[in-house]
Amino acid sequence: MLYLLDTANLADIKHANEFYPLYGVTTNPSIISKEKAEFLPHIKAIREIIGPDKMLCVQTMEKTAEDIVRDGEMLRDAIGGNFYLKVPISEAGLKATPILKSKGIGVLMTAIFTPAQALLSAKAGADFVAPYVNRLDNIVADGCAALGEIVKQFEIYGMNCKVLAASFKNVEQVHKCASVGCHSVTVPLNILQGIVSHPMTDMAVAGFDRDWAKVYGDKTIFDLVK
Ligand code: G3P
Repeated sequence: MLYLLDTANLADIKHANEFYPLYGVTTNPSIISKEKAEFLPHIKAIREIIGPDKMLCVQTMEKTAEDIVRDGEMLRDAIGGNFYLKVPISEAGLKATPILKSKGIGVLMTAIFTPAQALLSAKAGADFVAPYVNRLDNIVADGCAALGEIVKQFEIYGMNCKVLAASFKNVEQVHKCASVGCHSVTVPLNILQGIVSHPMTDMAVAGFDRDWAKVYGDKTIFDLVK
């Protein structure tokens, strides 16, 4: 399982990059617009935080294959490092994908809502597909079940394409996606933090603190071992 952060918020990215086993950062036009920052300096600031090796995904706004490819080349050159172009699925996106791949540019096909869209994207050569789990759940279409079908179809057809599940609103959705073999998820920081925290964990740690204090008072292991 690869964990990516679905945000362009620099404070959240700094925090997640410091504390979590982060594989990369995904953005989209809505996520970037929320920051109300200058586009390219902001993307470069994200790259600066996560370094050259982590995956950084930026979405094209273009609607023709030629313009999509041009975006891919420009963004790759401007941002550098482990860069992927996010391309919403369309005929133009499918045409652009093998061209981008031939130029060494990674492709994340996004706005995926059905297994059929995912399979076609994989066949075109996309490295990742991003199904929108919560948006499917919101129309009672069971996002995790759709995702499970995509994982299965990729296995059946031996597709060298990974599922990067997106659009999460709670920890249970992430857990269910992991249970069906999803390769990667992109989530906001509060979901990562929600995965970490558990009231039983807090109780267990409080118990350790109480028992230690009964015997060693406020001494730390450092005090006792140095
Ligand atoms: O990056 C695409 C996806 O994460 C969208 O999420 O929360 O807008 O449904 P959301």
